[in-house]
Amino acid sequence: MRKIGILFGMEDTFPWALIDRINRMAVQDVRAEVARFDAVKMAEPSGYRVILDRISQDVDFYRAALKNAVLGGTIVINNPFWWSADDKFFNYALMSKLGIAIPKTVILPHFQHPPGTTAKSFRNLNYPLNWDAVFAYVGFPAYLKPYSGGGWKSVYKVNSPEEFFRAYHETESLCMTLQEGIEFEEYFRCYVVHRKQVHVMRYDPRKPHEDRYVRNPAPIDPQRYERMHQDCLTICRALGYDLNTVEFAVRDGVPYAIDFLNPAPDADLYSVGEANFEWIVQAVADMLVERALSDERPARDYRWQAFLNSEHPGTTEAIEQATNRQAPTNS
Ligand SMILES: Nc1ncnc2c1ncn2[C@@H]1O[C@H](COP(=O)(O)OP(=O)(O)O)[C@@H](O)[C@H]1O
Ligand SMILES: [Mg+2]
Repeated sequence: MRKIGILFGMEDTFPWALIDRINRMAVQDVRAEVARFDAVKMAEPSGYRVILDRISQDVDFYRAALKNAVLGGTIVINNPFWWSADDKFFNYALMSKLGIAIPKTVILPHFQHPPGTTAKSFRNLNYPLNWDAVFAYVGFPAYLKPYSGGGWKSVYKVNSPEEFFRAYHETESLCMTLQEGIEFEEYFRCYVVHRKQVHVMRYDPRKPHEDRYVRNPAPIDPQRYERMHQDCLTICRALGYDLNTVEFAVRDGVPYAIDFLNPAPDADLYSVGEANFEWIVQAVADMLVERALSDERPARDYRWQAFLNSEHPGTTEAIEQATNRQAPTNS
């Protein structure tokens, strides 16, 4: 039996619909269920062929257990190693190099010293920063937002240096980006599944939370649709996410990618609406079944994989092969 485990937190609709959908597909040898963990022994296999992770961003124990599961051969969606390493500023920088329209963005030093650090920890920083250069580059309005985070937490729109400094004070020791504000005529959120399926949704961030996904949306200009579709694939292929949402703000006809670090994207029936819910349940169910049936070896992208595959793990030859360099000697 190739088991698919769904790992989730407070969500009430999507996980159950997914389990139900997969099991109704009645694929031979495949079954979906709620993933279960106890205290986890190191290097112990998880028992799942695939785990869909909806919650490890909030629970370190799950993130650690999932990395251990990969070592045991489980396909974890999304990749827990890359998710741990990724941040929004790197994403913006990478995508600006890949030809995606990205609002001008800078990363700023923390307003307050992070816990356990003092002024002495920051002797490498210029002080004061060259704020004139920052404001000239980013312009106003601008968005001050965490370099890693979600759910609109600590996101500020600022219209002047004064407003910026007021907001910056409130961010305390968070690490923040400052980004050119896109005064948009249209806004979209796109599900991207398995780096190949894209579902573009009209979204109105100015509305209250429950009304943001536009019901009965107007058709999308075909050229705009095509560009967003292609950008979604470029972004998710480059970052290696199998489930993500990409947000675009359209200004003067150009879709600017605003947020594309959503590896556990909102998929609640009452938030996204019935039509979008149906799309995401089916697309993710298809992906999980396809992956469960595959003979994929999830650990193959890591350097330590070569150590595991070697006939003689830990030998000088294995280390050299894995690292492309000479192993250290004890002499
Ligand atoms: N550069 C920007 N231009 C215009 N609107 C923005 C910009 N950055 C953020 N926003 C608005 O703020 C919201 C939250 O910011 P976002 O980057 O998506 O953070 P989160 O990860 O918390 O969702 C976006 O959905 C959008 O409405
Ligand atoms: Mg967002």
